[in-house]
Amino acid sequence: MSAPIQNQVSLMDLEPAADDLTREVLHSLRETPHRLSCRFFYDETGAKLFSKICDLKEYYLTRTELQIMNEYLGEIRHCVGPKAAIIEFGSGSGQKTELLLESLERPWCYAPVDISREQLVELAERMSARFPDLWVQPVCADYNTPFNLDGIIEADARRIVYFPGSTIGNLVPEQAITMLRRMKGLVGDRGAILLGLDLAKSREIIEPAYNDSEGLTAAFNLNALKHVNRVTGTDFNVSAFEHRAIYRPEQYRVEMHLISSANQTVRINGQCIRLEKGNHIVTEYSYKYPLEVFDRLLATAGLRRIRTWFDRNRWFSLQFIQSSACP
Ligand code: AVJ
Repeated sequence: MSAPIQNQVSLMDLEPAADDLTREVLHSLRETPHRLSCRFFYDETGAKLFSKICDLKEYYLTRTELQIMNEYLGEIRHCVGPKAAIIEFGSGSGQKTELLLESLERPWCYAPVDISREQLVELAERMSARFPDLWVQPVCADYNTPFNLDGIIEADARRIVYFPGSTIGNLVPEQAITMLRRMKGLVGDRGAILLGLDLAKSREIIEPAYNDSEGLTAAFNLNALKHVNRVTGTDFNVSAFEHRAIYRPEQYRVEMHLISSANQTVRINGQCIRLEKGNHIVTEYSYKYPLEVFDRLLATAGLRRIRTWFDRNRWFSLQFIQSSACP
C-alpha cells in the first residue's frame, strides 16, 4: 500500500546572512537622519501586531483593498488569464492572496517571496492544503535584492507579480523604479504586475491610520528595536523611545519615526551611535502618490497601467500593469 499523499512544500532559501544585517544596520544608523530598515517590523511579534493593525478602523488600507478585490474579482480573473504563475512579493498573512487564487482560472503556481521564514512556511503549507492542485513554491528572500526564478518556474508560464498592500510605498521613488524594473524583468513582456497602491488624500484620513488610538502602531514601531537588538546585538533601550507618525503631502509620504526621549548611546558591533534627546530614527516611509505621479514612475521603469480598480472613495487603487512594449 502506498503512503498517503501529502502536500509537501520545499523552501527555496536565499535569506541574507546575519553579518550583512549588522553591517547594514550600522550603516543606516549612521546616516542623517538616522534610519532603520522597516523590514525589522516583521518578526513574529511584529507580524501579529501588523495583522491587528489591519483590523483597525483607522487603518483603512487593508479593508479598502479587500473591498476592491471582492468587487472586481471577475475582471481581475479576466486580466490575469488561465494557468498563471503568481509570484507574491512580501506574502504576509495571505488573506488577499487566498481571495485572488480562489477566483483565478486554474492557477498553475504560487511562489510567495518573503524574508520572514516562519510565516512563509506556515503560509505555504496552508495554501498548499487549501489549493491541492496548485504548485506552491515558497522563496525565503529579501525581495529588495535581485533573485532569479528561472529553473523553478517554467519559461512558458504567464508570470504575474502580485504586490498588494501598498508595500511598494515603503520605497523612495528611485528605489521603487528599480523594484518595478526588476519585476518587469521577472515577468517578461508576456507577464504582468498586480499592484495595490494607496493614494494621496487628506491628512485627517492618513495620520490616524499610522497613529491609532489603541497604540498598536506605536507598539509595532517600537518592536523594531527589540527585533534589531535580537538579530544584530544592538542594545537599544526600547523604553527610551517614542512613536511618531507625520504626513508630508509635498513629499507624498507618511514618515514613521522613533524619537529618543533621552540623551543616549547605542552600541553595535563595538561601535557607538550617539542620540540626543529629541533626535529621531526614521523607521518607515509609506508613500501615498497621486495616480499621475505614480504613472511617471511606471513609465520610467518601462511599464504602463492598463487597468485600475478603486474603492468608492478612491482612497486606494489596485492596478494591472504591463510592459510598455505590450500591445
Ligand atoms: C504593509 C508596509 C504597506 O506602510 O501602511 C502599517 C506597514 N506601517 N502601519 C504601511 C505599516 C505602519 C504598511 N505596509
